[in-house]
Amino acid sequence: MGKNKLKRFEENKTFTSLFQPEHNEVFNAGYYMKGCWHRKYFGNDNPVILELGCGRGEYTVEMGRKYPDLNFIGVDIKGARIWRGAKSADGENLKNVAFLRCRIEFIESVFAADEVSEIWITFADPQINRHNKRLTGTRFLERYRKFLKPGGIVHLKTDSLYLHNYTMLVALKNRLEILESNRDIYGSGWANELLSIKTKYETQFLQQGLPITYMAFRLESHENLRVRLVEPEVTDYSALTPEDLSGCTQ
Ligand SMILES: C[S@@+](CC[C@H](N)C(=O)[O-])C[C@H]1O[C@@H](n2cnc3c(N)ncnc32)[C@H](O)[C@@H]1O
Repeated sequence: MGKNKLKRFEENKTFTSLFQPEHNEVFNAGYYMKGCWHRKYFGNDNPVILELGCGRGEYTVEMGRKYPDLNFIGVDIKGARIWRGAKSADGENLKNVAFLRCRIEFIESVFAADEVSEIWITFADPQINRHNKRLTGTRFLERYRKFLKPGGIVHLKTDSLYLHNYTMLVALKNRLEILESNRDIYGSGWANELLSIKTKYETQFLQQGLPITYMAFRLESHENLRVRLVEPEVTDYSALTPEDLSGCTQ
């Protein structure tokens, strides 16, 4: 392992904004912060918003700066990446920002029912060959709705038309309310201040000339957990047009 990585891992231990649960604290277990983020960390009742797969945490930190009346938690498993966000949060004393180094597979062990208001997923790997690993797949959505407030919103920003269309289909098939969908937020002049925050991956995709897409939908709460979400069965999601998608509600 590189010296720089090791240095970052050591520094990670000193950040007050960074939580790094051990495997046994989240595997079939309730992490000590579960249900306590408002009281024990933020010290307020403001909504909690997660960024999943936050990488270096650019979105989490920038949203924290722009919206002091909201709380933000960036989640990623890569310690050397999350270091960047936690260093900024600690350095700027951003009390409404935290980072969690954890596999998203264990996220139900970290948040209690109704503890989270919104989720952002920024430039996630589309996982074309492994739908069970897709962060907007039904397996993950089942996890999220255990702790999202009723009507909680999931935002997806991506360069991948495959992931965008797949997620649209998941929402449509499961009759989840789609709030927004745009296939080229900059080209269409649609990106507002919030959508214009740029992550490291986004900057690279923009340099390659790729359009950036965005969608937002409401995820039904745990009250409806008895009804499991169904996976769509298309294989080439990239090729779907908006017309193909409209009417796909069965
Ligand atoms: C393509 S990068 C995007 C990073 C950042 N959002 C950006 O736009 O620059 C995807 C990130 O998701 C994280 N990730 C993917 N699957 C994960 C999982 N199951 N649990 C935790 N982190 C995950 C990876 O570690 C990586 O940092």
